This record gives sequence, structure tokens and C-alpha cells, in this order.
Amino acid sequence: MKQLILLLVATGICLCDVTSNCDGNKFVICQKKFSDSLGIDQSYNWQNPLGLTTQIQNIYIKGGPNGQRGLNAVCNAYNSFIQCLSDSAFTAFECFDPRWLIKASSTPNQAYSYAFLMNMIQYQCGAGFYIASDNWSCMQRIYAGKNGTMTGCITNFVLNTQEDPNNACSYVQKGMDCFGDSARLQGCPDELRYYGCESFKQYTAPQFAYCTTQQCVVDTTFR
Ligand SMILES: *[C@@H]1O[C@H](CO)[C@@H](O)[C@H](O)[C@H]1NC(C)=O
Ligand SMILES: *[C@@H]1O[C@H](CO)[C@@H](O)[C@H](O)[C@H]1NC(C)=O
Repeated sequence: MKQLILLLVATGICLCDVTSNCDGNKFVICQKKFSDSLGIDQSYNWQNPLGLTTQIQNIYIKGGPNGQRGLNAVCNAYNSFIQCLSDSAFTAFECFDPRWLIKASSTPNQAYSYAFLMNMIQYQCGAGFYIASDNWSCMQRIYAGKNGTMTGCITNFVLNTQEDPNNACSYVQKGMDCFGDSARLQGCPDELRYYGCESFKQYTAPQFAYCTTQQCVVDTTFR
């Protein structure tokens, strides 16, 4: 019995070690294609996640390289990235797993900031897509008008959670409020405030999914 438990524990540890089968070479190639399709320099990659975050936001503001709407340009590039990474031996999401990225990055912070960004894009191109797409002209004006503020929401969050991880959930809330409040614009629907809040919530999820009391709510009395 004791041996069986020990064996299970040992297997458990072993499983933890191989959580990701992401192929690093493939990841590098697909990441380059991702930058190329966004029309940005290849140096904006997982080693420069905050720079990549700003580039994505610039595309949301200015549109894609071929004049597409920014949201479409980013989501098409993201979907091609996922497709490029798909392999019978691993899933694309294993490459965005911070536990794997930490091995490839120079700092844990860098690994997390990349995983944060990819999780936010996954939301913005998935469950959240139609909220922003239906009102893209509003959302684009929000990104343009609040560019500095929204960049600040992200950099403050990354710095604060790094310096003071014990209060991470309060920084998650701060960031959600910061993005949510930024996404308020006269004449634009309240759904966009929700979208801003939820985008930030999704941004934090790869490391702080345990902050479950932090929730975004739609104000149904608005209409
Ligand atoms: C948005 O803000 C960032 C950071 O300050 C800046 O680098 C970028 O050029 C700005 N983008 C636009 C479209 O103004
Ligand atoms: C998008 O925003 C505009 C401007 O407030 C509004 O008139 C329109 O109903 C919104 N679209 C949707 C689908 O909510």
C-alpha cells in the first residue's frame, strides 16, 4: 500500500514535469509568422511581451497592415498562429502555458506577461469577439482615446503583482476597474465596459484564476 502511494506520488510529479510538449522550434517559427501577419517587427515576441501588447493595441487603434479592422487583423493572425502550432503531439495552448514559457524565457515575469496577453487575445477573438465587433467603431475610439491609460493598467498590474504577490487579487480588481472604466465612452453601450473588464480579467487568468471574487457585471439597468 505504502509503495503504491509512493508510486502515485512519483507519477504525479513526473506528470507535472511534462505538462507541456510544446515544440520550441515550431513555436519560434509560428511566432515569427504571427508578427509578420500583423506587420510588426519579429522582435515583438514572447521575449518582449509588453512591447507586443502595445503593438497589438496599436493595431486595434490604427487597423491591420492591409487596412482591415484591427480586431479582424489580430484575430486572423491569432487563429493562424493556433493553426500553425497545432500538432498531434501537443496543443497550441501548451505553448502558452507559463510553466513551459518559464523554461524558455529569461524571467518568470516575462513568461507570465506573454501568457497573459495570449489569454486576453483568446477571449477577444472567442467569447468576447461579438461584443466588440458589433461596436468596433466605439471600441476603436476607446482604445485610441485611452491608449496611455490602458497601457498603464497593464504595466502597473504586472509591476504590482510582481512586487506584492500577496495582494494579487486586489491588483486584479484594480486592473479590471481600470480597463472597464477606460471602456466607457459617451454614446457607447455598457457592454463595452463589460468587455474591457472581462478582457482584463482574462489577461490575469493564467496566473491568478484563483481570484474568483473578482467578477465583471453587466449593468442591465443601463438600457
Ligand atoms: C500608445 O501608447 C504607447 C505607450 O505609450 C505608445 O508606444 C504607442 O505609440 C501609442 N499608440 C498610439 C496609436 O498612439
Ligand atoms: C453599438 O453602439 C452604438 C452606439 O451607441 C449603438 O447605437 C448600437 O446599438 C450598438 N450595437 C449593438 C449591437 O449593441
